[in-house]
Amino acid sequence: MISATEPDWDREKKIPGHYEPAKYLLSTIRNYQRLKLQGGLMAKLLSPFIVLLHRFWSAVSGADIPLNSKIGGGLMMPHPNGIVIHPEAEIGPNCLIFQQVTVGAGPPLIEGHVDIGAGAKILGNINIGAHARIGANAVVLHDVPSGATAVGIPAKIL
Ligand SMILES: CC(C)(COP(=O)(O)OP(=O)(O)OC[C@H]1O[C@@H](n2cnc3c(N)ncnc32)[C@H](O)[C@@H]1OP(=O)(O)O)[C@@H](O)C(=O)NCCC(=O)NCCS
Repeated sequence: MISATEPDWDREKKIPGHYEPAKYLLSTIRNYQRLKLQGGLMAKLLSPFIVLLHRFWSAVSGADIPLNSKIGGGLMMPHPNGIVIHPEAEIGPNCLIFQQVTVGAGPPLIEGHVDIGAGAKILGNINIGAHARIGANAVVLHDVPSGATAVGIPAKIL
């Protein structure tokens, strides 16, 4: 079982020679946040360069994931196109987000190891429990309990 609490950083590791823009985008976010934590001259000098890289990979991947996003380690985005994450949303470790997903205003709190199907929209001040699954194209407007599967518009628990 994939952990909902311990990030598996291998999920974010780049595979040499593979076209995986999401991993490059995510690494700019990780590096930016690491530098901000460290502070000092190095952070000041390198941050603008990382901001530029973030913009480049955002354009390539077609995803809008802010540099200050609160995202646990081990996030996978196999096809990042159209993914939009609100700056205030929180996403736990080892989640999986498919293309065209919106984690919108509210902001939602998504716990660890949640799989979010293609095209799903998660909207409002709601909680998605650990190990939950969100079906493709679901519009989730209410809390989803841990381990549950939510599908449809508006989403219902299976
Ligand atoms: C939600 C999901 C995880 C459920 O998978 P599952 O547990 O194997 O569920 P089943 O296929 O047995 O379906 C169970 C019921 O939910 C319905 N259902 C499944 N997915 C649905 C969806 N996305 N929207 C609406 N209803 C859905 C099925 O029609 C079925 O209904 P029924 O019991 O009335 O016949 C899966 O269907 C899904 O949407 N995964 C997303 C995958 C994805 O986005 N991949 C992108 C790859 S590029």
